Amino acid sequence: MTITANWSYPTAIKFGAGRIKELADHCKAVGMKKPLLVTDRGLSTMAITKEALDILDAAGLGRAMFAEVDPNPTDRNLEAGVKAFRDGGHDGVVAFGGGSGLDLGKAVAFMAGQTRPVWDFEDIGDWWTRANSDGIAPIVAVPTTAGTGSEVGRASVITNSETHTKKVIFHPKFLPSVTICDPELTVGMPKVITSGTGMDAFAHCLEAYSSPFYHPMSQGIALEGMRLVKEFLPRAYRDGTDIEARANMMSAAAMGAVAFQKGLGAIHSLSHPVGAIYNTHHGMTNAVVMPPVLTFNRPAIEAKIASAAAYLGIEGGFDGFFDYVLRLREELGVPDKLSALGVGTDRIDEMAAMAIVDPTAGGNPVELTLDAAKRLFVECI
Ligand SMILES: NC(=O)c1ccc[n+]([C@@H]2O[C@H](COP(=O)([O-])OP(=O)(O)OC[C@H]3O[C@@H](n4cnc5c(N)ncnc54)[C@H](O)[C@@H]3O)[C@@H](O)[C@H]2O)c1
Ligand SMILES: [Fe+2]
Repeated sequence: MTITANWSYPTAIKFGAGRIKELADHCKAVGMKKPLLVTDRGLSTMAITKEALDILDAAGLGRAMFAEVDPNPTDRNLEAGVKAFRDGGHDGVVAFGGGSGLDLGKAVAFMAGQTRPVWDFEDIGDWWTRANSDGIAPIVAVPTTAGTGSEVGRASVITNSETHTKKVIFHPKFLPSVTICDPELTVGMPKVITSGTGMDAFAHCLEAYSSPFYHPMSQGIALEGMRLVKEFLPRAYRDGTDIEARANMMSAAAMGAVAFQKGLGAIHSLSHPVGAIYNTHHGMTNAVVMPPVLTFNRPAIEAKIASAAAYLGIEGGFDGFFDYVLRLREELGVPDKLSALGVGTDRIDEMAAMAIVDPTAGGNPVELTLDAAKRLFVECI
């Protein structure tokens, strides 16, 4: 058997409590003189954001911020951000926040140097080669949630505000030059965001681990990522100031995103249309649809999940793992059905059609047909 694959591993990561202090040094090291800090509306008024701007300002890099960013950021947010970047004469982006701030920040740095519309760079085939890669501004990423792993990813998820679809935009240079993982920044997350983002990290590891593609490095990382979530997410949820738990969840989040180079699956394929149409929280949506997708995939992953269960110290093979997921969800206050997140049954056909063409569907270990997607939505809602 001949094995061929393309593997890319992440960016330089500066990991540790208090390391946000190094922000200005890293910006300067990658050549920034006038960075634009991009974050979401909610974070724009928080103390951690003010502190980051103070650090930039004190080092002579100014305190420019763009924060017209919605959760599940849109092409409109992107257009406004690119305008702010160009009008302000900026030369780099500090992408600051949860997945929303990080993704939009990365996309602003990318689009600042492009003339084609963003949809031309969707993660399809080699579309990314259409980009003018010299025009991409450097990015320093600072995650403030522990879930998406966007800080070590080469993609950005942008919602098309006209069609209400979530599109994955890809370019190798979306990868930040430097990422600062400072767990102290995540201490103020509300419980519902701690659980939702933590379950996103878990979903990344679980789906990467379950996907059928060949990527043994990611396989190992996914497995250890699940173990970290198992040990530390309930702790971080119970006591948000538990820095050891927060730090390990930050690792798990980055590991999930590194691992999902191996593929994602139907948890994400179902979650993307729900998030695009109902604006639900991405990780929380994943957590709700996780058990039905596990059951759907069972014929293809039963043995694999049994090995994972053994590694995680869970007895009972696949069934034991399934029960563990149910208990974890309960412990983290995750609702059982999507209806609790405001999702109705009236748009199932449309969402199922979107789910099967979502780029993540190809990584699901069992083929996600239109019928299957409809049935799964009925069960999840
Ligand atoms: N690029 C990728 O690879 C990737 C992977 C998964 C998800 N995503 C995308 O990421 C987005 C979701 O990101 P998220 O789950 O991190 O949520 P988010 O960025 O939307 O943040 C959720 C909420 O938490 C608040 N918040 C963030 N950090 C905080 C802190 N430290 N203290 C208090 N409040 C805080 C924000 O203001 C916001 O209101 C979605 O758009 C999703 O599609 C991207
Ligand atoms: Fe995700």
